[in-house]
Amino acid sequence: VKIAYITDTHLGATAEDWSQQPRWVGGMPALMRRLRLWLDEHDVEIVVHGGDVVHAATFGQIQLATALMGALGRPVFVSLGNHDLTERDSYQQWQSLAGQQRWLTAQDTHLELDACDLIVLTNQWVTSEGVGMYWPLATRPYHEAISREQLDWLDAALATHATRPAVVAIHAPIDPLPPALTGLDSLYKIPDAGYAAAMHTVLDRHRRARLVLSGHNHVSFAQRQGGRVDLTTSSVGETPLQVRLIEVTGGVIQVTTHTLGEPPTGLVIDGARGWTAGRREDRTMKIAPD
Ligand SMILES: [Fe+2]
Ligand SMILES: [Fe+2]
Repeated sequence: VKIAYITDTHLGATAEDWSQQPRWVGGMPALMRRLRLWLDEHDVEIVVHGGDVVHAATFGQIQLATALMGALGRPVFVSLGNHDLTERDSYQQWQSLAGQQRWLTAQDTHLELDACDLIVLTNQWVTSEGVGMYWPLATRPYHEAISREQLDWLDAALATHATRPAVVAIHAPIDPLPPALTGLDSLYKIPDAGYAAAMHTVLDRHRRARLVLSGHNHVSFAQRQGGRVDLTTSSVGETPLQVRLIEVTGGVIQVTTHTLGEPPTGLVIDGARGWTAGRREDRTMKIAPD
């Protein structure tokens, strides 16, 4: 099976809103047209969006985003990000608007594909407003989480087979970015300790959990954990417009990284922070049973 992974489109974000690299402001419709052609060219059957589809999750933005993703011509599964949950009713809006698209799913899903399982989860967020699928845009401080029910559900989903590879998608990364990647003095973008420990505990229990797809940090990075790779990916809406191709055959997962063509004129990558697009080992990898 061939799966495409994109993340952090941030529909509606401006050049001033937080990013790791220059953002293609207003680029999502063009990017989705380019993606559709690219998917056809590579015979990709399924798309996973790692979340932060929109920048602010108003009804209008969700409506636009679901229409754009619904036009990709194959099933699309979304792990909603914090930016997709900025209103109290955002999660419900996603469900009703995704439900109007033939191919779009934005809720926790366990899917058995021909060569692997795909498991998609949406994070909870801990803010001054409480814990849940709600993240007010200006809320500080905040951190990612996952509920006990979701952890049990993930554990049960992974327990349905012994060796068949499983690919898990969840917006918030479960590992920090190391100095070896960033060149910084210390770890960068450190996940909440409780969240990371809870996820690692469940994933480590199942050897078939071979690939974890996250977004949120807008950086392409692969962390090897025994026979598993925890992968984060840069924003498809920031230079150099990266997309992942995941090919699963005979128990082996091959990941390659591509770009959706040239960025618009003037959108130049910040070379001093070129590591956001990943090193060679963050871009291309083979994950085989140990
Ligand atoms: Fe993001
Ligand atoms: Fe995020």
